[in-house]
Amino acid sequence: TGDLSDQGALNAYFRLRDYTRSVCQHQFWLLGNHDHAETLRKATDDNKDLIRNDIRVGAWQIVMLNSQIPGQVGGRLGPRQLALLEEALQAGADAGLNTLVCLHHQPEPVGSAWIDSQAVLDADEMFAVIEQYPNAKAVLWGHVHQEVDYLRKSVRMLATPSTCIQFARHSDDFKVDDLPPGFRHLQLLPDGSINTQVYRVTDRSFTVDLGSSGYL
Ligand SMILES: [Fe+2]
Repeated sequence: TGDLSDQGALNAYFRLRDYTRSVCQHQFWLLGNHDHAETLRKATDDNKDLIRNDIRVGAWQIVMLNSQIPGQVGGRLGPRQLALLEEALQAGADAGLNTLVCLHHQPEPVGSAWIDSQAVLDADEMFAVIEQYPNAKAVLWGHVHQEVDYLRKSVRMLATPSTCIQFARHSDDFKVDDLPPGFRHLQLLPDGSINTQVYRVTDRSFTVDLGSSGYL
């Protein structure tokens, strides 16, 4: 869910691509605020599937949205991504598919003022679309570097710890946490429900500079 590199370097994408290829058969990327769209596309030239918008697997479709505003930290979907979301939800409904919506920025506040100022600007429009489609089951995002899991009406809202540094929860100012890097496993069940769990990487030593004033 984005921020696949710190500064959008071509070699960073090559390294990530080659590593992830060695450990998983399928992978799908979307843009975060740290990513450089053109460079990322160049790095994935040989595999267009990496940045496709709609993925179908079993009784599910996964819609990958771009919330990046080039040159800015905060997020916005804009009319094109919102239209893409609506088209995908309609197509999913027609095909009887449940939908997981993925994007980089948080569509709702997570309770930390500094990062909540970077939330998706047009999230209301996104939810207006989502609420029309009962097949929209979950929204999953990155950017906030912490675990989030709650229900918004009937939609599961999920954020995942960073594979890098974690941000402290409920802190008005930027603050890092000393929790280890983490990732989320999701099991998309045929009935539209989701089994999901966050795992922390505990078998490596990982030193965090808690006094840092900035991290990815
Ligand atoms: Fe980000």
